[in-house]
Formats: sequence, structure tokens, C-alpha cells
Amino acid sequence: MPATSMEELVSLCKRRGFIFQGSEIYGGLQGFYDYGPLGVELKNNIKAAWWRSNVYERDDMEGLDASIIMHRMVLRHSGHEATFSDPMIDNKKNNKRYRLDHLLKDQKADVQAKVAEIMGEDADNFAALVAALNAKPAQASAAFKDAGVRDPFSGEVGDWTDPKPFNMMFKTTIGPVADDESYGYLRPETAQGIFTNFKNVVDSTSRRLPFGIAQIGKAFRNEITPRNFIFRVRELEQMEIEFFVVPGTDEEWHEHWLEKRLKWWEDQGVPRSKIEILDVPKEDLAHYSKRTYDLMYDYPTLGHEEIEGIANRSDYDLGSHTKSQSELGLVAKVEENADSIAKLTIPHPETNKPVVPFVIEPSAGVDRAMLAVLSEAFTKETLDNGNERIVLKLRPHLAPIKVAVIPLARNKDEITSVAKKIKAELQGLGLGRVLYEDSGNIGKAYRRHDEVGTPFCVTVDFDTVGKGEDAALTDTVTVRDRDTLAQERVKISELAGWIQAKLR
Ligand code: GAP
Repeated sequence: MPATSMEELVSLCKRRGFIFQGSEIYGGLQGFYDYGPLGVELKNNIKAAWWRSNVYERDDMEGLDASIIMHRMVLRHSGHEATFSDPMIDNKKNNKRYRLDHLLKDQKADVQAKVAEIMGEDADNFAALVAALNAKPAQASAAFKDAGVRDPFSGEVGDWTDPKPFNMMFKTTIGPVADDESYGYLRPETAQGIFTNFKNVVDSTSRRLPFGIAQIGKAFRNEITPRNFIFRVRELEQMEIEFFVVPGTDEEWHEHWLEKRLKWWEDQGVPRSKIEILDVPKEDLAHYSKRTYDLMYDYPTLGHEEIEGIANRSDYDLGSHTKSQSELGLVAKVEENADSIAKLTIPHPETNKPVVPFVIEPSAGVDRAMLAVLSEAFTKETLDNGNERIVLKLRPHLAPIKVAVIPLARNKDEITSVAKKIKAELQGLGLGRVLYEDSGNIGKAYRRHDEVGTPFCVTVDFDTVGKGEDAALTDTVTVRDRDTLAQERVKISELAGWIQAKLR
């Protein structure tokens, strides 16, 4: 059974070295997390699985790694300066600040209903209600006060300000200058690095439509209320594809990517039955979107929340960057010079005329993927002896440690030297992390490796070195399967092949 509460996951992640609070020794920094020794392995394995499926196993994809800090003009013309904001509202009594929709969601149903009634909206249409509150700020603050909206921090009814938009981009100074122009933004989505490199990739690879550009990288959002562990953070990582298609074929490709992505999540151990597909209502669409499917995973404690967005961005981004270059005089005027090489166009595959392609964008968060994968793998079992064990039933390709090699007696040279040799041989196969584990207590070692999801523990004992009771077991080891707990005796000479086959 997957994890039933976020607390269980948080506790395991800290205890076993998956995830730590950022800047913890100075009290922590809200919305920032550090990935520990096992966290970094799991994260890298998730990213590698995504890259393998979307780049290596396709013929229509290129990869990219663009810089994080971007020219302010990119984010101006992408629409982020004007629209990448969330509504915030302050409680004048204690100066606490909240994201308006989060604050409302946290209220009891009768309070929400009262706010809706005052605003003349339907309480069941949350998106429309939030839109109305944003559109009428003075009425919104009055409605919050009259309905008795409570401050989650103090528990008391707040004295609420009018809501106002808060832009979530992190701005930073570039170079040792102090003028008003020398600033850039930490990208709020990796996507813009793909759009700004569209022409470079097309020119250097001779790609024709349809094709995509994939990128994995950090993005930054100054979230008003980061919360729920790594679900909503200020420094996040995204796995994004911008898939460029002939206008008119975009809707078909949108469906293609929806299927592909659901299949990928399934392959990582996140079943379809746990993901709801939300066809995002028009009023909730991002400024660039023609249509978006949000994949809503059923997180422990949180319920259904977004894990990935699959958007039809139409020709919005390439179109507006082309227009802005033209406006800035960086390229010849678009209309007058239809063949300008600096325009973000590509020849139509049939007419050869330059066209601004439409874009389908599957965009998944690595941090949210970690949460979902951990949550699905987390299992509590009662053993035959009545003891409880926690086991992470991760798919083997995601497991942070692939094999632990354990000498049954850590002070017997003949055993430890064989165990070390086996570890070295397995390490040389490039499977990922292979550990030599000589903590001394085999039961504890098994428990630890169950909790971190190690698929196989290999034990070297007296029989292995010909000093046990059964001579037939000489040169064999015991391999314990994490999930079934079955123990199989395998010849050392066949062990590497055995493990490789199982991990595959
Ligand atoms: N380029 C499109 C884009 O950025 P988005 O829906 O804002 O779209 C895509 O983000 C994905 O990035 C989300 O589905 C989520 O998995 C992840 N994500 C977004 N904001 C996040 C945050 N503050 N913390 C963690 N993950 C986040």
C-alpha cells in the first residue's frame, strides 16, 4: 500500500538521507530543499529515465541545456513580466501574507460558501470565484472580513487587505554595474531557453517539422506560500519538451503526448488509476495556452494535485519572440522579409514557406515526480513473525542503491575479501551504486536496505568460502529479493549476469 500521509514520507526522507531542509544549520530557508546521498541518486535516475524515453528512444527529439539566468527581454516578451503572478493578500493584524486561493481553500466549507455568496458566485466553481476575487479587490477584502476568513497562523479572523498580484520571478543584478537596466531573471520555466534557441537548434541539426527539444533543468519561482514539503518549492527542477508541429496538427499531437506521458508515469510505478486528467477550464489557462491537460496525481495528505502539465502553447512564444525581435530592430521587419533567417520560423514541410510552428509542451516537475514515486513505492508490511517492515518497492531502474554486498562475519578475512571482490566486480558493471555493507548486523542491514529500496542484498557466508556445513554451496552467495524476501543461492561466477538480467 502506498504511503498514506506526507508525514511518513518526510520522516523517511530525512531519516535515510533522501531530502533535507535547505540551509538547515541556519534555521532553514522556506521553499528550498537539498537532496541527500540517496535523494540525488533517485532524482538522477528519474531524470535519466525521462531522458531515455523522450530523447534516446525517439527519432524526433534533440536535447538542450540552456542557461538559467536570462535576458530580461526574454521574460518580458514571453509575457512573464506582465502575467506570471499570483494574487496575494495580507492580514493587517500580524502582517502575514498568503496566496489568496490557498487561503480560501484552507477555510471551512461554510466560510467559502459565504465568500461566494457575497461575491455573487457559485461556491462549487472555485476557479471562477478566485477570478472574481482578483477582478474586484475591494469587494474581495470586504468579503473575506464579512465571511470570517481565518488566518491559518493565528487561527483568528483576519483584517484583510485588498488582494494584489505578486510577480513570482526572481530578479538578479548582472555584472558590477548599478544601473536600472543591468538585471536579468532566473528563468521561471526551462521552456524559454528552448524557444530562444529554436533557430540555433534548427540550423545546427537541419530538423524539419515535427520535432521536439527536450531539457531538464532548474527553474525558480518566488512562491508566496511554498508548502507541502517538496510539492511547492521556490527552486524546482523541470523536465520539459517543446514539441514543434505544423499548425493544424497540434490537437492530434496533444493527444499523442497525453498518452505517452501517462505511459511513462506508469513505467515509473505511478499507475494511471492514481492520475486524473484535468482539462483545464478556459479561465484557468496560462497566458500562453490554447488548451492544457493537467495530470493530477493523488498525493498522500494533499489529494489530487498537478504533477505534470501538457499544454498546447500554439504559436504564442515563437510568435511573440519573433515580433519582439522585429520591434526591437534586431531582425528585419517580419512582414517585409518573410524569409528572414533570424525569425523563429521553419519551412512548412509541404509548401516550404516559412511558418511559426505550434508547440505541444509536456512539462513535469522532478521534485513532484520524486514525491509520487516515493509515495507509490512506500509500503508497510506485517511479516510472518508479526514484525512490521517498511519497504520502498521502487522500480529497480530508479533504486538509489542497486546491490548491497554483505559479509556475514566482518572480522573473518576469508569472507570479507570475497565480499569485497564481488562488490568490485558488480561495481565495474556500471549498474549504479553498489555498496559494501559491513555494519555487522545482517538483520539491521536488511531493514535499512528495505527502507531505501535496494532491490538485492548479496550475502557472503561461511558456505561461500567452503567453511560451512554444505560443501556444495562453496563459491555461491545468497541473494535476497527486497520485495518477495525470497533467498536464492547463486554461483559467484553467474552473479553478475543474474543481477543484470533482474535489473533489466
Ligand atoms: N513550462 C510550463 C510550466 O512551467 P507549470 O504548470 O507552471 O508549466 C510545470 O509547471 C510543472 O512544474 C508542474 O506540473 C509541476 O510538476 C512543476 N512545478 C511548477 N511549480 C512548482 C513548484 N513551485 N514546486 C515544485 N514543482 C513545481
